Amino acid sequence: MAQKLQTVRGIRDLVEEELATYDRVLAISSKLAKLHNYEKILLPIFEYSSVFLRTLGEESDIVTKETYTFSDRDKRSITLRPEFTASIVRSLISNGLTQNLPRRFFTYGPLFRHERPQQGRYRQFYQFDCELFGSSSHMADVEVISLLYSILSELKVESKVTVEINSLGDRESTDKYRAVLREYFSDNIDELSEVSKERLKKNPLRILDSKEEQDISIVKGAPVLWNFLNQESIDHYSNICEALDTIGIRYEQNSRLVRGLDYYTHTVFEFISNASQKAIAAGGRYDKLVEDMGGPSIPAVGFALGIDRLHDLLKPKKTVNESNLICYLIPIGDDAEAYGVGLAEKLRKNNIVTVLDYNLSTKKRMKIADREKYPICLIFGDEEIENKEIVLRNMVTSEETKVHIEELFEALGKL
Ligand code: HAM
Repeated sequence: MAQKLQTVRGIRDLVEEELATYDRVLAISSKLAKLHNYEKILLPIFEYSSVFLRTLGEESDIVTKETYTFSDRDKRSITLRPEFTASIVRSLISNGLTQNLPRRFFTYGPLFRHERPQQGRYRQFYQFDCELFGSSSHMADVEVISLLYSILSELKVESKVTVEINSLGDRESTDKYRAVLREYFSDNIDELSEVSKERLKKNPLRILDSKEEQDISIVKGAPVLWNFLNQESIDHYSNICEALDTIGIRYEQNSRLVRGLDYYTHTVFEFISNASQKAIAAGGRYDKLVEDMGGPSIPAVGFALGIDRLHDLLKPKKTVNESNLICYLIPIGDDAEAYGVGLAEKLRKNNIVTVLDYNLSTKKRMKIADREKYPICLIFGDEEIENKEIVLRNMVTSEETKVHIEELFEALGKL
């Protein structure tokens, strides 16, 4: 017997409710992004590895442990995209889109990270991503945070998340802080977990968001980032907080929020699910990335919304059959079945979702209509066709009426 085929570990198909979530989130997010004049951009699934290597941080977990990287047949190193930001910046530079700023882009689709699979963490997952290029104003940060917030509000999950925000300051501030932190953790190295000892060598900032029990008290006593921010960084950050207060977005300041990607400067934020404590969206400002990737100096800020994790927060809703006017055709006899094909076409041309199954008994068709909860059945045999009539059965009330074919749309309209 042939071997049963399965998906790769940590990778799943999107079907039924999860697919409905994906469609719904995309529809709402795209609508709101377009209302803010974000332009849609679709990017390749894989890139030369160099696009992600340095940009995300050569020592970051994503690059060291999580990318799907392989040599293609031309022996070039290829990486399946683990995130969008670096790809968008690459695209901006390669397509010469760095003129006429500010400019806003959104994109979405699958991403790949070789993480340990668990609830809400997959090896192929989906994001909706927005990026705003060419503004260093704190109001650009506020715009992306409030766009993300309005997407979650329209999805009615804004009360189920906590917005956490922090500032890493400019590069100068972070470098100063990193050095102090390295010294502090080195002094306490014996008490640190093995993971944090590793992180100390690469990037001591990452120890701050360690989840290891052993690290918690040492992290609590660590110097606080805010004390190392220069005035410009403090102003940028406090202006954002003030503006968020003004527009009524509630947030919590978390001085230990550092994020796992190296490109951030100034603002970082995460929207955390109160139920799972996992981030459902995250982002921040990255004023040096475009330049670091070989483009001009362009400030930027953006976010990515994790669609998979939203699914757990949303009440699953099937959208496939969301149209409330679905007609199920029940032809009786061969001639009627052929007639049904033309009738179905006419109905669909009028935007009515129409289902016609083939070669089934009337009993079986009625069973299907019941099972699928189709609200309307249109029943017709030779006699009805000859008289240009159709039996319209309202499946909710079980009422049946005979209508002339010319009056069918009017009758359906009344329903
Ligand atoms: P990130 O924090 O790596 O940021 O990912 C953003 C969101 O994607 C997470 O908050 C989470 O909801 C979702 N996510 C990440 N990994 C997985 C996974 N393995 N399974 C399911 N969901 C996942 C970025 O990707 C940045 N590029 C965000 C950004 C945009 N910063 C500036 N612009």
